[in-house]
Amino acid sequence: MNLHSTKQNKNTDQQVQIRWLIRRDMPEVIDIERECFDFAWTEEEFLCCLRQRNCIGMVAEHDHEIVGFMIYELHKSKLRILNFAVAAGSQRKRVGTQMVGRLIDKLSQQRRKEIVLEVRETNLNAQMFFKNQGFRAVTVLRNHYDDTTEDAYYMRFKLDASEADEFTRENRISEYFDAA
Ligand SMILES: CC(C)(COP(=O)(O)OP(=O)(O)OC[C@H]1O[C@@H](n2cnc3c(N)ncnc32)[C@H](O)[C@@H]1OP(=O)(O)O)[C@@H](O)C(=O)NCCC(=O)NCCS
Repeated sequence: MNLHSTKQNKNTDQQVQIRWLIRRDMPEVIDIERECFDFAWTEEEFLCCLRQRNCIGMVAEHDHEIVGFMIYELHKSKLRILNFAVAAGSQRKRVGTQMVGRLIDKLSQQRRKEIVLEVRETNLNAQMFFKNQGFRAVTVLRNHYDDTTEDAYYMRFKLDASEADEFTRENRISEYFDAA
């Protein structure tokens, strides 16, 4: 494969079907999880989370293969993303964009107003991705993780963000507190 075809593949959108996660998807979901994260969730952690009444799992399929997944919680006025990943071979093909798009559609249908998530401070790719989707970092959560000493950025997407909010808060950590 020459450089030219690599670039073409990288930029080709991959259309996906997004559906509920079911039990037999778990092996593929776990493979993606392990490929994407140093501190991967175990199958037990997925199942424990998905047993909660307000927790939803969805997968993105392309050609009958799972290429991405997301786990999120339903709260009264917001959705909270707990886990979100796209298989390495399908990254930069708008799979993640389609998954976030689905969540944004759900917000408007369900009268919820925002989507929130925590991103590790070292995960620049995810920060760039969620910023590209309209999320903004609003808080630093100090020593947020059990497995490392790193901080988390709390990022938020607001359905009806006013222009004023966009101008004053873009690219800025607007609040700051120590979660410890
Ligand atoms: C972050 C992640 C979900 C993005 O999914 P994706 O399907 O690759 O993203 P998309 O193709 O929809 O990207 C849309 C835009 O986001 C930005 N973006 C996405 N990945 C990026 C990266 N690695 N570096 C910089 N910008 C990036 C770009 O602006 C991109 O548009 P472009 O490709 O035209 O430049 C994916 O890389 C992933 O699963 N990473 C590992 C797991 C992870 O970090 N999950 C998030 C935990 S909070």
